[in-house]
Amino acid sequence: MTDAGFDRRDQALVAIRSAIAAAPNAAAAMKQAVQLLKDAIPHYTWVGVYLIDGDELVLGPFLGKPSPHTRIPLGRGICGAAATEKTTIIVDDVNADARYLACSLDTKSEIVVPIMNGPEVLGEIDIDSDRPAAFGQADRALLEQTAALLSEALSD
Ligand code: SME
Repeated sequence: MTDAGFDRRDQALVAIRSAIAAAPNAAAAMKQAVQLLKDAIPHYTWVGVYLIDGDELVLGPFLGKPSPHTRIPLGRGICGAAATEKTTIIVDDVNADARYLACSLDTKSEIVVPIMNGPEVLGEIDIDSDRPAAFGQADRALLEQTAALLSEALSD
């Protein structure tokens, strides 16, 4: 692909890889990744990382409006589903998905990408967009590669 969207995601991944490699600890690595993702793609309206704590997901670094969902039980939400199913979930229309836990009334679509260490879920990257069906395979590829880099940082 040669469209501008791909280039932007490619550049973002290069920047995220360097930032995570240079980060002094996992907290800094997560914060940098969130910032670089938010800056790279204008329609990434809310970008955050959740980490597993027992049977809950706990909100770590994020950019966007404060979320009421700072702790999400694994059985709830699109976030809980992605962690339980250990797979990326893309929702084109959050209002048509019964699992959806609302964060902002403006949100139209969402992607949640688990951060895996082998078979174990460490957390996830969660991104909301005010645009319907904002996330495609290029986003999935960027975010799954970012999740792999964060997994290394979290496992160090
Ligand atoms: N929408 C998520 C909850 C987290 S907020 O989007 C930040 C969900 O349904 O799990």
